[in-house]
Amino acid sequence: MLTDKNIVLGVTGGIAAYKAADLASKLTQAGAVVNVVMTESATEFVSPLTFRALTHRPIVTSMFELASEFSVEHIALAEAADIVVIAPATANTIAKIAAGIADDMLTCTVLASEAPVIVAPAMNVNMWQNSITQDNIAKLKARGFTIIDPEYGRLAEGKMGMGRLAATDDIIGTIKQVLGRSGDLAQRRIVVTAGGTREAIDPVRYIGNRSSGKMGFALAEAARDRGATVVLIEAATSTPSPAGIEVINVESVAEMKEAVTETTKRADVLIMAAAVSDFRMAQQANQKIKKEGGKASLELVGTEDFLLKLPDTFLKIGFAAETENLLENAKKKLNEKRLGFICANDVTAADSGFGTDTNKVTLLYPDGRTEDLPLMTKREVSDIILDRVVAILEEK
Ligand SMILES: Cc1cc2nc3c(=O)[nH]c(=O)nc-3n(C[C@H](O)[C@H](O)[C@H](O)COP(=O)(O)O)c2cc1C
Repeated sequence: MLTDKNIVLGVTGGIAAYKAADLASKLTQAGAVVNVVMTESATEFVSPLTFRALTHRPIVTSMFELASEFSVEHIALAEAADIVVIAPATANTIAKIAAGIADDMLTCTVLASEAPVIVAPAMNVNMWQNSITQDNIAKLKARGFTIIDPEYGRLAEGKMGMGRLAATDDIIGTIKQVLGRSGDLAQRRIVVTAGGTREAIDPVRYIGNRSSGKMGFALAEAARDRGATVVLIEAATSTPSPAGIEVINVESVAEMKEAVTETTKRADVLIMAAAVSDFRMAQQANQKIKKEGGKASLELVGTEDFLLKLPDTFLKIGFAAETENLLENAKKKLNEKRLGFICANDVTAADSGFGTDTNKVTLLYPDGRTEDLPLMTKREVSDIILDRVVAILEEK
């Protein structure tokens, strides 16, 4: 989705300026046209040559010595931008923007641009917590700027604190979210479940499953990139959560029930990609079960199928991960759970199912139609699922 997007990347004079090189590189690799604008202070930290080599574009460092491509007028960059991203943003540049100052090419571009602006601050913890900086941040937020808060971590001066630049992937996730705002799922609220639930056996052990969360994450990211407000209900997963998405962490089926019931009260769509445990302990042990006589037997009971009780005020899309009788089992779930459609997924097939980056699914509809999708990436599968979701929502 970043292909051919015109991104102005503003780099200001902080220690984290070197991290902007990674951001510039990843955005360029994703197909974006990245125009780097550096403040004079930023050039003290990283050479413009680094960005030039990574983006294959001229780098702007001064308002009065413009590279030929941008020499038409000082606002040419601003007009061409699909989005302006300032990472890292110093306290100084944030203050200047909040005050409407335009005394260098970056602040001038921000003032002149109608494109959305993302600001990713990075600074010493005291500078960040200073009420002057906080007031400036509040001003920018009130004017519609997207702020990616700095993270807690080790700062350049050796102390721990808030102030570290957000991770590159989080910044890229937020860029995609902002660029996707007017997509075909804009104004829609989508709840996605991902990962595998865990049911405690005793205080140290649990019954889990092999779900990696990748399918749910791909769906959540795809919905985010098409403008939806996404809530991700995340059980145990093996990869970091996607950026730009509200995440609610849960462990057990009971916790998932509570989160799904609450978040779907205002949802348009629920996509259930999580692997929810079918069993739990009849009675969870209060103490660690001892290895006495080399044997233990567990009494399991079925978990509550809370999806059956959810209201029909929103569209529900399910997944059926099966190892045998895939289509029959999927059809049964489709009807019982009153789904818009179900994605049947043979988890024993090569390159498909748990932990892989690809998936092969068959979509089954209530009217008996089936749609066999070829093996593709989980992101590609997600976009097809969302195409079908959009079509159903538009019919309603
Ligand atoms: C070694 C060093 C590190 C700095 N790191 C930061 C920083 O991380 N964040 C920040 O807001 N300012 C930092 N500053 C201060 C800025 O460089 C200074 O406020 C400068 O005027 C910012 O200019 P600019 O906003 O035009 O880039 C640092 C200064 C020095 C000398």
